[in-house]
Amino acid sequence: MNLYFLMAALFVGMAVLVAVDTSLTSFQILPWFNGLRWLRIHVITLGAMTEVLFGLLPIAVAIRMRKPRPAFHWGTWLTLNLGLLTLLIGIPIVNQALILSGGTLILFATILLILQLQSMRSMGGHKSAEVKHESGGRKFYVMGLSYFLVGIIIGTGLWLGWSEWLRIQIPIEVHIHANNWGFMSLVFAGLLVDYYAVWAKRPLAWPGSITPIFWMMTLGALGLVLGPWVKSNWFSVPGVTLHLIATIWLLLNVIKPLLGDRAAWSKPGIWHLLTAYIWILAPVLVAPLIIFGVAGFPGAGIEQNAPQALIYGWVFQFGYAIIPFFFRRAFLPDQEAQLGGSWYSLVLVNLGGVFLWASIFFTEYQALLHGTAFTLWTLSIIPIAISLWRIVREGLIRLEKPRLPARLDAAASD
Ligand code: HEM
Repeated sequence: MNLYFLMAALFVGMAVLVAVDTSLTSFQILPWFNGLRWLRIHVITLGAMTEVLFGLLPIAVAIRMRKPRPAFHWGTWLTLNLGLLTLLIGIPIVNQALILSGGTLILFATILLILQLQSMRSMGGHKSAEVKHESGGRKFYVMGLSYFLVGIIIGTGLWLGWSEWLRIQIPIEVHIHANNWGFMSLVFAGLLVDYYAVWAKRPLAWPGSITPIFWMMTLGALGLVLGPWVKSNWFSVPGVTLHLIATIWLLLNVIKPLLGDRAAWSKPGIWHLLTAYIWILAPVLVAPLIIFGVAGFPGAGIEQNAPQALIYGWVFQFGYAIIPFFFRRAFLPDQEAQLGGSWYSLVLVNLGGVFLWASIFFTEYQALLHGTAFTLWTLSIIPIAISLWRIVREGLIRLEKPRLPARLDAAASD
């Protein structure tokens, strides 16, 4: 049983509650409370996604490298979860000691995971055999987690005054960029590289393009982190260009082999993976209008609200497909696992994104549109949360079933 996944299921349940709360707050049915802004993003990014990724990445690499399943690292699990719980208390009440402790614990957990993934490169086997079974995704995971370290340091320092000391011009943007363009983008790309053949039952269109995509994403993320750090478009513009080209190239790798195969498009899971990218491409496409300050364009509104569409529309939607898949593999290993999601969740989560973006442009209806976006997102998460709990429950019931002694087991099967 994977304890990270159990925690992720708890946080997905919590994400439903926070989304309901945000929606009721926008409709002015409930009052705004301090910390809601932080919670609605981080129960998803840290609570659901980081938990799943920490539980998954060592196993994903071991499977691709044809190695035995790695042992569970209690130290990493404990530091991550203690850190998360400390931040959940510390950030809403803005308690500096708790924020520092929480951030530091998560930082240590991430370093431990990076070291574990690095050590897997040299695990057993002869070097030439090793090359044959390398996990194409491993370098994406290690680089993504390295950007996460930057994101954690800047995020922890946001209320501790570190930005002045580090001379960061727009600290919140550096935090968001390191985590989204660095951490999540690279890790998701790695998962597509490692698991596309399992999900789509065919290889990527151009396997040789993976290394250039990796370097373009890595350098693109660097430009996007340095841009707001020194407040210079000389970094942001090449960064966004490189990242955009790499993302489109990766998506073409995924889409091309499926063209003309109607059966492949009849599953909502693959649609979830692809439509999720609309919500990371949307802010990129309007970025030039913000960067060059086009008159009448609501740049400030986009900077304030687009992160929510990015997290619910892209990060969490990608999770709608992959989390149930990996849960089934972990808790019900004898059943065939498929990508999660349904047509219902697909329509609602994307409509939520449309309403959120509409709330930026139609300011006179902002509260109504914003509240509707969160209502749609809540409705889209509920079936995913229920399906995750069903999988966990079924897996736990199996674990609890008293096992017959070996002799009786053999007699029963005779
Ligand atoms: C230890 C880890 C982290 C810490 C300490 C942290 C801390 C923070 C803080 C203090 C804020 C400012 C909240 C505010 O303005 O009210 C923030 C905002 C944000 N963070 Fe994090 N964060 C962490 C991880 C992440 C991750 C993993 C992601 C995404 C993958 C992320 C994405 C964001 C986004 C999108 C915002 C903007 C929220 C908004 O505008 O509503 N953070 N974070």
